[in-house]
Amino acid sequence: MELHVTGDGTPWRDRFAQRTERMTSSAIRELLKLTSDPEIISFGGGLPAPEVFPIEQIRAAADRVLDEHGKAALQYSTTEGYLPLRELLVRHMARYGIVVGPENVIITTGAQQALDLLGKLFINSGDRILTEEPTYLGALQAFTGYQARYVPVPIDDDGMRMDLLEEQLRTGPKFLYVLPNFQNPGGVTLSLERRLRLVELASHYGVPIVEDAPYGQLRYRGEHLPPLVKLDAEYHGNGHGLPFHGDVIYLGTMSKTLAPGLRIGWVVAPEEVVSKLVQMKQGADLHSSTFDQMVAYEAARGGFLDRHVKVIRKVHGERLGVMLQALERHFPEEAKWTRPEGGLFLWVTLPEGFDSRRLFDEALKEKVAFVPGTPFFPNGGGERTLRLNFSYSTPEVIEEGIRRLGGVVARRMAGRLVAV
Ligand SMILES: Cc1ncc(COP(=O)(O)O)c(C=O)c1O
Repeated sequence: MELHVTGDGTPWRDRFAQRTERMTSSAIRELLKLTSDPEIISFGGGLPAPEVFPIEQIRAAADRVLDEHGKAALQYSTTEGYLPLRELLVRHMARYGIVVGPENVIITTGAQQALDLLGKLFINSGDRILTEEPTYLGALQAFTGYQARYVPVPIDDDGMRMDLLEEQLRTGPKFLYVLPNFQNPGGVTLSLERRLRLVELASHYGVPIVEDAPYGQLRYRGEHLPPLVKLDAEYHGNGHGLPFHGDVIYLGTMSKTLAPGLRIGWVVAPEEVVSKLVQMKQGADLHSSTFDQMVAYEAARGGFLDRHVKVIRKVHGERLGVMLQALERHFPEEAKWTRPEGGLFLWVTLPEGFDSRRLFDEALKEKVAFVPGTPFFPNGGGERTLRLNFSYSTPEVIEEGIRRLGGVVARRMAGRLVAV
C-alpha cells in the first residue's frame, strides 16, 4: 500500500479544524527567513543583545542543579512549576507592588504559552478581544487560533487612547489585552494618568484585563510606572488580606531579563484561574522543563537578576540612543518615529503613500531588514508603518543599517517626487 505524505493525496488536507482557517504563519517569521544571509543587518526580530547573555552564571547554575538535585531536575514535575522559582518571582514582584502568593503563580513555557493558554481557557469562537492597535503579533496569533475577533483601540505616544476606549468597551469584549510598558511594536508607554483611567473604565464596564509586561524592567530613562495589577488592587481597596484583587491577570517572563532560550514565563491570576490554567497546560505540555526552571532559579537567586538587569539596561539603552541619533541623521524629516524609554523596539511612520512591505523588498537589496507594520494591526491597516529592533545589533551596525535604510527611504521619496 502506498503511503502519501506530501502533495494533494495527503489524507490530512481536508481535515484541518475549522479554527485553523484564519491562522497564518507569522508574517514576521516568513519575512525574517529572507534575512538569514549573515551580511544582512536585521532590525527585524525581537532579540535581546546576545553579548549580555549570562553564560557563565547559567553554566554554574546548571552544574549546581545537576550536582545537588540531578534526579529531580531530570524528572517530571508539577504543572504549576518549581516552587522555589515561583516564590522567588513572588518576592521579586512584591517590590513592584504586586502582592500575591505562590498559589497565584503558574510557570509557563515563555509568556507566549501563557497567551495561548489564556486563549484556550477564555475564548469562544467569535469572542471579541479588546487590544491596542498596533499590538503584539504573537498574541494575535495565539488568540486567532481560538477564533477571536478584535476590537482595537489606537495608541499614541502615551499608549492606548483613552478617548476611544469607552466606545470599544461598550461592545462587550471578553477581556482587554494591553502592554503598558514600551509596547511591542510601538515602543510607547501608557502614562500613569491613563493607567488609572484604564483600570477605572475596565472596572466600570466589567471587562477584565490581561497585562502583558515582558519589558517592565527594561527601562533606560524616566521613572518606573506601577503595573495595572497594582493599580487595580488599590482601586478596589485591598479588603482581603493579600492586596491582589484579581481583575487583572499579569504575564511576566525571564526572556528579556535572563535568556529567552530558557523559555520561562509566568502568569499571576486568582487561584481559581490558576487551577483552570493548570488543566489547560496539562493538555499542552504537562509542565515546563523542570531542568530549565531549576537552572533559572539557581541563576537568578541571591540578587543576580537585579545586578544583571542593570547590565542589560546599560547595553540596550546605549543602542537605543545610537538608533535615535542615526534616525535623526539619516531619515528624511517627513518620517516620524517614537522615542521609547525602554524595551526593544521603536516604531516608524513614513510619509503618506509609502508601503512598508514594498520598502522591505527594496531594503533587502541594500542588505537591511525591518518588520513592516501591517501584521501588528488586528483588523488590517498600518501600511506606512514599520518596527525597528534596537537591542540586537551593536552600535556600529545600527549606525550602518539606519544609514542604508535612510538611503532607501530617501530614494523612494525622491522617486515619488519625480513621478508626480
Ligand atoms: C509583548 C510580548 N509578549 C510576550 C512575548 C513572548 O515572550 P516569551 O514567550 O519569550 O516569554 C513577547 C516576546 O517578544 C512580547 O513582546
